[in-house]
Amino acid sequence: MEKIVINGGNRLSGEVTITGAKNAALGILPATILGKGEFIIENLPDIQDIRNYISILSKMGARIQREGTTLQIDTGSISGAFSDDVAEESTKMRASYYLLGAMLATYGKVSLPMPGGCNIGARPIDLHIKGFKALGAEVELKYGYIDVKAEHLKGANIYMDMVSVGATINIMLASVRAEGITIIENAAKEPHVVDIANFLNLMGANIRGAGTDVIKVTGVAELHACEYSVVPDQITAGTYMVAAAATKGNVLIKNVIPTHLESITAKLIEMGADVEVYDDSLRVIGKEQLLPAAVKTLPYPGFPTDLQQPMGVLMCLADGVSNITESIFENRFKYVDELNRMGADILVNGRTAVFNGGKPLYGARIKATDLRAGAAMIIAGLVAEGTTEITELKHIDRGYENIVEKFSALGADIQRITEEDSEEA
Ligand code: UD1
Repeated sequence: MEKIVINGGNRLSGEVTITGAKNAALGILPATILGKGEFIIENLPDIQDIRNYISILSKMGARIQREGTTLQIDTGSISGAFSDDVAEESTKMRASYYLLGAMLATYGKVSLPMPGGCNIGARPIDLHIKGFKALGAEVELKYGYIDVKAEHLKGANIYMDMVSVGATINIMLASVRAEGITIIENAAKEPHVVDIANFLNLMGANIRGAGTDVIKVTGVAELHACEYSVVPDQITAGTYMVAAAATKGNVLIKNVIPTHLESITAKLIEMGADVEVYDDSLRVIGKEQLLPAAVKTLPYPGFPTDLQQPMGVLMCLADGVSNITESIFENRFKYVDELNRMGADILVNGRTAVFNGGKPLYGARIKATDLRAGAAMIIAGLVAEGTTEITELKHIDRGYENIVEKFSALGADIQRITEEDSEEA
C-alpha cells in the first residue's frame, strides 16, 4: 500500500505549470473514434483516468504512441465491438459514458456496463439516455449494461432538465453525424465543453454556441483526423491556487486561462489573499489572516463543485464561520469527517457544511475518499501541525499529475512511500 506523508507548516513558493484538462481530454479521446485516422493530441495529462482511456482505445484496435504530453493515435482500425476486458475497464471511470455517444454516432450501436467514477452521489445518466432517444436511438438497460442502437440518427431539439456536463458532451458526440440540426438547450458551459466542441469542429463538425446555454449541431457526413492541444485544467489550477493561499505562500501558476478561474479568484480575494492576473498565468499570495466566506457550487461560470473540497480546507483556516452549499452532488462532504479528525470543526446539515474556522489542524492518518477530497487532504496536510499520512491514493492518481513532485518543488515536505518503506523508516 502506498501513502503520501506530509510534514506540514511550509509556505509554498515558486512556480507550477498546469497540465491539460482531465475532463476535456476524457471527451477528446473517445471523439477520435468518430474521425478514423491519425490524430496528434498535445497537452494530454499523464493521469490514471487518461491511461485507462488510452488502454481502452488500444484494446479496441487503435494504434497509439505516447511521448510526454503528446499522443499519436490512429483510430483507423478500431472495431465496433468491445471485448470483455474493455467492458470491465470501462467500469473504472465515469467518462466511459462518452463511448456511448461516440460509438453510437460511428457504428449505430453500442453496449457497455454502466459507468463508474467517484462515489459522490447517485450520478444517473438519464439525461444522456433522453438525448440519445430524442435523436432516434433505442436504449435498453439490462444486467448492468446499457444497450443503445439506432439505424438512423436524426437531429432534434433537446432540453436538458438539469445542466449536465456529461450529457451535453455526449449529445454533441452522438449528434455530430446525425441528419439535420440538433439543438441542445440549457447546455453546460464549462471550458471543457467548449474545448471538446472546438476539437470536433477541427475534425469537420459543425457545432455553434458551445459556451452558451444553447448549442446548435448541424450534422455532417464525415469527420476526419486532426492535431489538437488540450485546454489547461481549470480544476488543477484552482487546487494549486487554494494551496498557495492556505499555506500563506507565493506561487506563480502558469499555463492557465485566467477567465476560466474567475469564480475561484474572486473567492480567494474575498477571503483576503492577493491574486495577480496575467495573460496565461496567475500569482497567488496568501496572507496571514483569512476571512470567512460562503460558497455555493454551481454549473460554470459559478463556483465549481470540484473545488469545494479544497476550499473547505481554506475555510477551516479562516477566522470565523464559513459555509459551503453543494448544489451539484449530494454526497460530496465525505472529506469533512477526515478534516474533523485533524481538529477541524465542521458540521454538515444536508447539502450545507458549516465551518467554524480558525482552529489549528493537526497531522493525522486520513483517507482520500474521492479525487478532489484527496487534493483537499493534501492541502490540509500542508497546513497541519505535525505529520499527516494519506492513503487511498488511487483516487488522487486518477486526476493529478505528479502532485507530490509538484508540491515538493514548491517547498512542501511531502513524499510518497510504500508500506515497506514506512516499516523500514
Ligand atoms: C462532470 C465531471 C466532474 C464534475 C461534474 C460537474 C467529467 C468526466 N466529470 O461529471 O468532474 O464534478 O461534471 O462539473 O467531466 N445528472 C442527472 N442525470 C444525468 C446526468 C447528470 O441527474 O443524466 C445530475 C448529476 O447527478 C449531478 C448534475 O446533474 O447532480 C451534474 O452532473 P454532470 O454535470 O452530468 O456531471 P458529470 O458529467 O457526472
